Amino acid sequence: MLKPYRKAELFFEEIREIGADGRNSKTFLANDPQLGAEIVVKQIAKADLAAPDVYFAEAKALYASAHQNVVQLHYACEDDDHVFIAMPFYTAGSIKGVLAQRHLTVREIVRLGCQTLSGLHNIHSKGLIHFDIKPDNILLSLRREALLSDFGLAKQTKLGLAEPDGFYMRMAPPEAVSGPPYKLTFDIYQIGLTLYRMCVGPAEFNRQFARFVGPAGIDRPALAQALQRGEFPDRRGLPLHIPARLETVIMTCLKVDPDERYASALAVANALARVDTCLDWEFVADPVNRIWRKVEDGKEHRFTVNQDGSTEFVSFQTDGTRRRKRPACLPRMTPTQIRGVLRDN
Ligand SMILES: Nc1ncnc2c1ncn2[C@@H]1O[C@H](COP(=O)(O)OP(=O)(O)O)[C@@H](O)[C@H]1O
Ligand SMILES: [Mg+2]
Repeated sequence: MLKPYRKAELFFEEIREIGADGRNSKTFLANDPQLGAEIVVKQIAKADLAAPDVYFAEAKALYASAHQNVVQLHYACEDDDHVFIAMPFYTAGSIKGVLAQRHLTVREIVRLGCQTLSGLHNIHSKGLIHFDIKPDNILLSLRREALLSDFGLAKQTKLGLAEPDGFYMRMAPPEAVSGPPYKLTFDIYQIGLTLYRMCVGPAEFNRQFARFVGPAGIDRPALAQALQRGEFPDRRGLPLHIPARLETVIMTCLKVDPDERYASALAVANALARVDTCLDWEFVADPVNRIWRKVEDGKEHRFTVNQDGSTEFVSFQTDGTRRRKRPACLPRMTPTQIRGVLRDN
């Protein structure tokens, strides 16, 4: 408890729990009668924190990182057993929530990626490493702009190095196998893996990770080996509408050797901003066929690659008629040809 200070009272009324993703914390929507507003409160048990001097570490890291692409902090307070972090309620949810509904277009990935990186650059400039970047921890503002959240693992660097209290195995970079301390390139890897997940979608990412999950939990030696060999995530697993420049950005972030990655969040954002092809195709993961669709000038275009390799390109005109694009309707197409259709149409 903050003993030498004046103590004041604060009330909020729990409405409902929202953060089913949280592990060491409980996140709920609350009514704050002092502000006359609905807010979100993240409740952390003091018993789960190492010592009284770190009770407010998460709140401090969040406050120090204030930026238009970082979740806003209203206030932080405590009772005997908990620390509370009060924030605005972001009703649009997280990128993980959007990915559960549909695939993102390249334009959305670039935009959300650049916004997240802008927030991350600010965090890094304060000497912090986030250590927990993933789609669940990127919330969306009312204007659908990315907001980096969850500073539960963030740590202040000393001479550029820091040691997190833990991290999630699904997002672990290869250097986690040899152990801490880590550089900010830990976050650059997690940005790469987050962009990768935004490209492939949750079903494909979960399918790849399931290889390392057995009845006894995560097979750590197998995962460690795959990370060190650059085999997880699958570097050839990106869908065909992901343009070469975006692929290069992701693969550079995912380099096994941290020194081969981009050296800063700003460098990643600059490279990402140069992605300028295949921007509007939305991948529709049909269980049998691969379908891409986009709407342009009121017309919907649909490109289907059937299981037997044959392709079909149809445009729905504004008067309701269908038009086939003959050169893109073939009995077979190579991946290079498919990429070409997606790039040129
Ligand atoms: N301010 C907020 N508005 C809306 N949803 C939120 C907010 N803060 C957290 N959440 C939701 O609650 C989940 C858990 O919160 P988070 O801070 O990530 O806790 P944990 O450290 O337990 O992962 C998030 O993944 C998100 O879905
Ligand atoms: Mg979280």
